[in-house]
Amino acid sequence: MSEEHNIAVIPGDLNGITVTNAAVKVSEALTKLLTKPIKHTTFDYNADYFIKNDLTELGEKELSELKKYDQIFLGAIGDPTKIKPGVVEVGILLKLRQEFDQYVNLRPVVLPQGVASILVGKDYKDINFEICRENSEGLYVGEGKIENEGTDEEAGIQIMKCTYKGVKRLAEYAVQRAIARKKGGKPTMHFVFKTNVLKYAGAPWIRVFDEMKERTDVDIKYLHIDNFLMQMLINPAQFDVVITENMFGDISTDAGAVIQGGIGSAVSGNINPTGEMPSMFEPIHGSAPDKWYELDKNGMCVPGTFVEEKLQEVKPEAAFMSYAMMLDQMGEEKAAKALKDAALNNIRNKNYKTMKKDELVENTINFIKEYKG
Ligand code: IPM
Ligand code: MN
Repeated sequence: MSEEHNIAVIPGDLNGITVTNAAVKVSEALTKLLTKPIKHTTFDYNADYFIKNDLTELGEKELSELKKYDQIFLGAIGDPTKIKPGVVEVGILLKLRQEFDQYVNLRPVVLPQGVASILVGKDYKDINFEICRENSEGLYVGEGKIENEGTDEEAGIQIMKCTYKGVKRLAEYAVQRAIARKKGGKPTMHFVFKTNVLKYAGAPWIRVFDEMKERTDVDIKYLHIDNFLMQMLINPAQFDVVITENMFGDISTDAGAVIQGGIGSAVSGNINPTGEMPSMFEPIHGSAPDKWYELDKNGMCVPGTFVEEKLQEVKPEAAFMSYAMMLDQMGEEKAAKALKDAALNNIRNKNYKTMKKDELVENTINFIKEYKG
């Protein structure tokens, strides 16, 4: 057993760097609440790194380095004024999710008490569930082809590959989460897919559902993704834990972020439940280039228009709470709770919208220092 927690930190680009620096800084105030110290090691894997090293994805060198760490904390990546959109997203984020077999993307949809939802009449009692997004396969396997490119017969084909083992292990993880987070009464787990249309990719989803549906400790239900999105807006209180395919999870968790108070507070963990390889924690929001650069008439970022003052407008709370989720996974529940409560305290502040980043960091540190549990 190591004497410290070894965390690999990947700040990334733009917004990612800002929120990561803030999260690492506030984490230093947690010392007294930890069972052992945390050591951060920073890796500059981002757009500049890819350009400098002429990379299209992280290679063996970077992967074997990162593999040595207990966990990875990631800010956000991508800067379209430097590198074509998609390159670092696929080459870093998707690469790590795949290589480290982080097959669950745990994305809570929880509206904090005292924060208004855009869903009129819904409060924290209604919006409190988790989406476990399948994170290693589905439409994200990167398989397919372009036929007859450049002709009128051009066809882009993208494969959605869902395996029995992949759905099964996700469902097994999620059912344990459902049992653990029981809100009183029997918990519910929803399978969400589109089995009426996607009959091949849907087959393993139906098979795993059939194997689990007679459980007596958890109510097992099924919804098509379109219906799920609608139900999430009409009656979110019916959900405890939801499992879904990679792309469906990508889309529904952005909608989930909005009903729980905004993308600025939505967190995620790319989890390898076996613990054999590091998990990776990141805020759902991206590097937000549209906030950093001026946009041209097509909405494209104009290089060189970045202004330093905008740094203060960044909200670091999603990064703080993602860091807290990481602490939780490491068994540091006390520190996790303190950091999460500190972030929520910022979010609940009536002046939150206009508060500057440095002030939010300062408040967080003070809150932690005075934390009584
Ligand atoms: C997310 C992001 C990524 C995804 C992108 C950046 C590749 O949108 O984590 O939700 O699609 O998974
Ligand atoms: Mn997304």
